[in-house]
Amino acid sequence: MGILKDCINNKKTSSVPVWFMRQAGRYLPEFRDIRFKNTNFINLCLNSKLAKEITLQPLKRFELDAAIIFSDILLIPYALDQEVVFEKNFGPRLGTLNIKNILKTTHEDIIKKLKPVYELVKITSNEQIVRKKDLIGFVGGTWTILLYMFNKKSPKNLSEEIYQLSDQDKLIKKIVDTQKLHIKKQIENGSTIIQIFDSWAGLLDENKLYKYLYEPTLEIVEYTKNLGVKVICFPRSIESYKKFCDIVKPDAINIDYKVDPYKISEQIEIPIQGGMDPNSLLLDRNDMYKDAKKYLDAFKNHKYIFNLGHGIMPKTDPENVKALVNFVKEFK
Ligand code: CP3
Repeated sequence: MGILKDCINNKKTSSVPVWFMRQAGRYLPEFRDIRFKNTNFINLCLNSKLAKEITLQPLKRFELDAAIIFSDILLIPYALDQEVVFEKNFGPRLGTLNIKNILKTTHEDIIKKLKPVYELVKITSNEQIVRKKDLIGFVGGTWTILLYMFNKKSPKNLSEEIYQLSDQDKLIKKIVDTQKLHIKKQIENGSTIIQIFDSWAGLLDENKLYKYLYEPTLEIVEYTKNLGVKVICFPRSIESYKKFCDIVKPDAINIDYKVDPYKISEQIEIPIQGGMDPNSLLLDRNDMYKDAKKYLDAFKNHKYIFNLGHGIMPKTDPENVKALVNFVKEFK
């Protein structure tokens, strides 16, 4: 159990906890080596040993306070029997959405398909380098999963047709049920914190927030809390993180880079995570430090977990990541 969890539990920590979204990714040459030899991304996620190796790669380089399992939010559509492939220079592409078929999948079917993920969590949590830290498990947000299942690729903007999708209430219920199962299995196998990535929450119309964001997320947050595990939410780019926190009551909230850190530190009481623009890691060192300092200063009297407003970008120099981690660790 690490200082990340201490921070969320409102305990004093020796330094500001730090980890990054996409800390194991294409910006690392050792990741690219493995990825080059494993062209099927889903199969790579389902190779527990290789996925463990990838999960540990950033921890071997940097003084991070948490590992996040190498996996993907689209393993839920995969487990629900919708085809998912990742194409080079395109991203994810999903197969036909057959809701009838999806509703037929049982917990046993799902667990069978995702077994390697749970094995990955288990063998990773037993690693010496992870034992004193936190091991973050995750799911996609219900809305973001639904959107990928409907749109079948990353959306550029929202097609209003999704709101008319027939049998959507049954599908949403099935997604929520699967998310809960996936969270429970990750926790049983050693995840100490859960993060919910709702990357496309910002596309939702104001009058759709209750049905597609607040209600399902509240249900999942309460479920996770009842399992005794802290949950961080990242409803990316929503208008009001304050309203989200008031309704959903996560244990911590990740903000995006458009949020003013000073303003939000006054509005929200729970621990805050992230914020810094991933582009700042492409600047020269002093400008990168300046931006990092803005967040560290703004949250000096607030529980804060250093992270970014989105994932580390593939063109990032690992040396900058190292310098940034050290800068955060030395900040007093
Ligand atoms: O953060 C981590 O290090 C943990 C692992 C992780 C991955 N994806 C690995 C990955 C996590 C938490 C995710 C979440 C995820 N996956 C989200 C939510 C966060 C976000 O990025 O908005 C989404 C929307 C997905 C779906 C997805 N997976 C897309 C759209 C893509 C292709 C585009 C891209 O960003 O590269 C992926 C591929 C993916 N998932 C990679 C990694 C390391 C890149 C793999 C590669 O191309 O070699």
